[in-house]
Amino acid sequence: MSDANLSSSARVKPRISFRALSNNLITRMGLISVVFWGLALGFFIFRDLTSNEFEEHPYAGLLIYLLLPALFWASIFFAAAGMILKWRRIKAHPEEAGNTMVLRPIAKRSMAVGLVITATWLLLSGFGAYKSYHATATTAFCGTACHVMNPEHVAYENSMHDKVSCPQCHVGTGLKSSIEAKANGVKQLWEVCTNSYHTPIKTPIAHERSAEGTCKQCHAPDRMRGEVTRTITHFSADADNTPIRYKLLIDISGGTGVHWHVSEKNKVSFFASDAGRQDIPYVRLTKYDGSVVEYMAPKFDKSTVDESKLRTMTCTDCHNRVGHEFKPPKRAIDAARDQGLIPASIPMIKRVASKALAEKYATNEEATTKITAAIDDYYKENPPPPAAATLLPAAKDAILDVYRKNFFPEADVDFRGFNDNLGHYEFKGCERCHDQKHVTADKSQVIEKKCDQCHTLIGQATGADEIKNMVIAKTEFKHPEEEVSLKKTCSSCHALKKE
Ligand code: HEC
Ligand code: HEC
Ligand code: HEC
Ligand code: HEC
Ligand code: HEC
Ligand code: HEC
Repeated sequence: MSDANLSSSARVKPRISFRALSNNLITRMGLISVVFWGLALGFFIFRDLTSNEFEEHPYAGLLIYLLLPALFWASIFFAAAGMILKWRRIKAHPEEAGNTMVLRPIAKRSMAVGLVITATWLLLSGFGAYKSYHATATTAFCGTACHVMNPEHVAYENSMHDKVSCPQCHVGTGLKSSIEAKANGVKQLWEVCTNSYHTPIKTPIAHERSAEGTCKQCHAPDRMRGEVTRTITHFSADADNTPIRYKLLIDISGGTGVHWHVSEKNKVSFFASDAGRQDIPYVRLTKYDGSVVEYMAPKFDKSTVDESKLRTMTCTDCHNRVGHEFKPPKRAIDAARDQGLIPASIPMIKRVASKALAEKYATNEEATTKITAAIDDYYKENPPPPAAATLLPAAKDAILDVYRKNFFPEADVDFRGFNDNLGHYEFKGCERCHDQKHVTADKSQVIEKKCDQCHTLIGQATGADEIKNMVIAKTEFKHPEEEVSLKKTCSSCHALKKE
């Protein structure tokens, strides 16, 4: 009996066609999915390449170029798996080549069951894809779900741009930036998943978006007119936390003021010898009449200029920290004091607080414990007057808050890793070029460092009384306490230690 069966099955040659192999439930479900996700994928890629719809959503790339393809390939895998099972089945039982079921008669109902399962799977995964698309398209996703960007998100919340979304500065408009940002988004996700990202996250200096599609969508500095005032208050590290105030008048026009660098009349380009663009040995000014002026740092060999690395000056060559400022300790404390968060009536609070913030800590917990201890220890040995003592707990909270908004030990992020190019106090900033040392070959022209070139000091006062009665008039800068040579850059003494 069994012998007869064997010989009969050996005689029937199994028909292994695509049709026969795909004639099974798993493959059919898989093929429906392949068609569905294939169409969705095609549709989204087409929309992405032809419209601006996803520009606001850099992480839509995760959906379009990662999740949808994953679902598409999963469906193909599903379909193929069904075919392999069916193939093995046909080899074992050639007479079943024409049967629909892979696994023998479950029931006729299984076709209907299969359809329901397929529909549910499509519905759920489609819903999931839609949800994740929306989730990835927000500032919340960039800043918080993606935990590695937490420092930037916190600093951003603390900036003037907290109502501007991340993509408005980091993606910009136009097809090219859209594709680049999406490719980058996928790369970043990969780096996060594989834990291979750089800590701290590197500033995307080389891949920065053009100002046209970002800053200039909201600002037109070459059309600004007149001056703005900036009032900067330092608090001295003495017992009274004596305030020292400067009032600067800054011409921000595109004609004669700071925004001259980005006006359409002329082009300022430069060559930086380091990746962070802090050392700028060569500057080229191309005037509206086409004439060119070249300024060089001492001993710079002009023949080493790589034309392809020449950069035209733009907003972020000065305003590079507008989105995320990580303030150095003293400035961070000054700002909090300015906001009234740290009372100046607590003796020495400026010195004690900025010293505690300047230490390096490994974790946030360690910082909290040690900063608290440093403050407690100091005031145990030097008890403040009773009125000030009652303010101490609130001041301590404010100092810890300053720390949490500017220092991120777990991510290795704080002022030490990020230069601020606006100004010239803790960082080189404007003095990367304006140092009186960048000269033309014949030494007839120089990039000026005259204090009046960029701002007019219209007030300087030390102590609360002087500040209240500050006379607004042009005045000469006087260095607090001791006299210093104005030939030296402020940052040569006020730059903070990097270690
Ligand atoms: C107002 C514009 C602006 C907005 C809004 C903005 N950024 Fe930035 N961001 C920048 C600029 C400019 C840089 C480059 C900084 C530099 O060159 O020093 C930068 C740099 C970064 C970096 C690199 C590391 C660093 O700190 O330099 C990360 C990460 C980042 N931004 C994330 C975000 C996230 C997340 C959001 C939204 C929560 C966001 N940004 C919103 C302008 C912005
Ligand atoms: C979507 C619109 C938008 C974009 C894009 C944008 N900004 Fe702004 N920016 C604003 C608004 C609004 C304010 C005013 C905030 C306020 O005064 O409360 C502002 C304020 C500023 C200020 C003055 C406040 C400060 O922090 O000193 C500067 C400088 C500035 N932006 C530069 C930039 C630069 C540089 C970029 C590109 C990297 C940029 N902005 C991108 C809307 C934008
Ligand atoms: C050479 C350096 C430099 C460049 C380049 C530059 N700015 Fe400024 N900008 C300044 C300075 C300095 C100020 C005034 C001081 C301040 O805001 O702290 C200023 C002020 C501003 C303000 C605030 C104006 C106000 O009324 O308070 C905005 C907005 C601004 N810049 C946007 C831009 C944009 C956008 C670009 C690029 C197209 C740009 N800046 C390029 C140096 C520069
Ligand atoms: C990449 C080099 C470079 C940097 C960085 C730079 N400048 Fe300039 N700046 C120049 C050159 C070149 C000139 C033209 C020569 C001159 O007048 O000294 C100039 C001229 C100026 C002028 C005079 C404009 C006029 O109408 O004559 C002002 C004001 C100025 N810069 C302010 C600033 C401020 C403020 C900063 C920093 C926030 C800054 N610059 C950073 C290169 C630079
Ligand atoms: C190339 C332009 C430029 C030159 C030259 C220049 N400054 Fe400034 N200065 C700035 C800018 C920009 C700021 C930052 C303004 C702001 O914070 O908005 C600044 C800030 C300051 C401040 C405030 C410091 C602080 O705590 O932030 C003082 C004080 C000052 N300058 C004094 C001087 C003196 C003194 C000289 C001459 C030796 C000088 N500046 C030359 C552009 C310049
Ligand atoms: C030769 C070194 C040196 C140079 C150059 C220098 N300073 Fe100072 N400065 C000091 C010292 C030392 C102190 C007192 C200790 C301290 O508070 O940091 C001080 C204190 C100050 C203070 C008192 C408030 C505070 O925050 O402590 C201000 C404001 C200040 N300097 C501004 C400037 C400016 C603006 C320039 C550039 C025009 C400049 N300094 C250049 C050494 C220097």
